[in-house]
Amino acid sequence: MNTDDFKFLVDRIKDRSGIVLSADKGYLIESRLVPVAQRNGLTTVEELVKKMRATPNAALMEEVTEAMTTNESFFFRDKTPFDFLKDYIVPQFLQSRGSNKRLNIWCAAASTGQEPYSIAMVLKEMNAKMPGWSYKILGTDLSNDVLEKAKTGTYSQFEVQRGLPINLLVKYFKQTGETWMIDPAIRAMVEYKYFNLLESFAPLGKFDVIYLRNVLIYFDRETKKSILERAAQLLAPDGYIILGAAETVIGITDALRPLKTHRGLYERNSAAAGTGLAGKATSTLAGATSSRPSSVLKTSGTAAGRR
Ligand SMILES: C[S@@+](CC[C@H](N)C(=O)[O-])C[C@H]1O[C@@H](n2cnc3c(N)ncnc32)[C@H](O)[C@@H]1O
Repeated sequence: MNTDDFKFLVDRIKDRSGIVLSADKGYLIESRLVPVAQRNGLTTVEELVKKMRATPNAALMEEVTEAMTTNESFFFRDKTPFDFLKDYIVPQFLQSRGSNKRLNIWCAAASTGQEPYSIAMVLKEMNAKMPGWSYKILGTDLSNDVLEKAKTGTYSQFEVQRGLPINLLVKYFKQTGETWMIDPAIRAMVEYKYFNLLESFAPLGKFDVIYLRNVLIYFDRETKKSILERAAQLLAPDGYIILGAAETVIGITDALRPLKTHRGLYERNSAAAGTGLAGKATSTLAGATSSRPSSVLKTSGTAAGRR
């Protein structure tokens, strides 16, 4: 592929998805776009670019962008983000929420569904401790292909062997031939929607917990900053954002601050400009890393029964 064609694709993919492809990703573009070219009756990526240049074609652009997404995911990936929910976040809400027994969770790069279903299983397992609570888990992604798979709740033997504890496999999955089907009750706990993180978050509503994991790594600093700051705006004042192991807010934005005691867990920084939380009591210094002990769960501006 010549430099012009490479640049054309890199620019289009970044505009459409935020995904940044560096100069050494030529092989990746070739390997992922040859099948797209073939599905469109062409042979090479050069021919594909020529077609894209000739007439703007939204469906083709979508196909190209989807092909360049990396959809790797597995059940209970990294484990701790799910332990945070069970051992830290839900116990805190049980204490502080009073009669507001609602939990809204957004899984902002849901891929093939393992992450939102892991969350759903954690909550289902906590049912007895949460009488009268209702949950909404929203799973969104840019790729329609992965969302379609997520909606089926069907996984291969290989997929259920990655990260899913055996007791949960036995309890919540049914084997049919080579595949495993998730329990319809777990399936029903998650709503899936197409959503591009570059678009306005306003229509999504408010969330108590946002899982934004293993997607920021594909974006440049400016895009990360914009997504993190807009996500912070959607977060309840006592809510949390959970990032992936290789992701951070440090050096990008002060709209969120990390909890020292829980690596990967972030809360709104009420002292930061534009958070809408100015004037509320804070338990930590402005802009500082929160170091509350894990057993003492008071968040910035949180008061029992406030919401
Ligand atoms: C590596 S997967 C992460 C899945 C899951 N969060 C996890 O940690 O296992 C990244 C996902 O981000 C999605 N993605 C990439 N760019 C996006 C964008 N601009 N808007 C929404 N989703 C995007 C991809 O389609 C892909 O499914």
